[in-house]
Amino acid sequence: MRKLFFFSNNKNKIIEIKKIFNKFNLEILSSNDLNISEEPEESGQTFEENAKIKSDYGFYKTGIPCFADDSGICIESLDWKPGVLSKRFLNNFKSIEACFESIIRSTKKNSKRNAYFKTSISLSVKDGQNVIFNGQIDGKISGQAKGRFGFGYDPIFIPKNYNKTLAELSTKDKNEISHRSIAVTKLINFLIN
Ligand code: IMP
Repeated sequence: MRKLFFFSNNKNKIIEIKKIFNKFNLEILSSNDLNISEEPEESGQTFEENAKIKSDYGFYKTGIPCFADDSGICIESLDWKPGVLSKRFLNNFKSIEACFESIIRSTKKNSKRNAYFKTSISLSVKDGQNVIFNGQIDGKISGQAKGRFGFGYDPIFIPKNYNKTLAELSTKDKNEISHRSIAVTKLINFLIN
């Protein structure tokens, strides 16, 4: 079975990715499986740049073909931010609940509820050479945080044509529609072909 390194320490992302890859003849190794705890600085200005920084780093460290994702939420009422700064934005609040409240307040104040999640996946197979796969899911910010599945901003994001937040969907159902699964499916099609 061929090995592929998914450069991430995010347990939830690893669960989502391993589930998507389940039916393919590829062994997915995470940073934890390879005892790699250090991460490069995500100094890029775009999801694509940050994903490449991480996948190049993982490939350089192990010599195993490596992919990494960089993801985040872009919110209309925040001028489509925080984007690449999604993790830092959340960590700047004293709690996740305070962050959600602040976002929900801004969507109500501006009457702008649109939002989207984006994932860029970079695959590095040779020094300095990479391929990018993007995925996006459109939706809106909910009136209140709901649900206990998923992670990050899932409890306040309602996908288009749904009436539940991503955190109210099981991992399986989230994987049917998510930004990450769209990008991963493109990666898998590339690997198969
Ligand atoms: P990164 O790709 O690990 O840098 O992710 C940045 C941040 O975006 C995460 O820490 C989460 O807060 C948020 N994020 C990324 N993907 C998702 C998702 O699928 N659901 C909810 N939040 C996400």
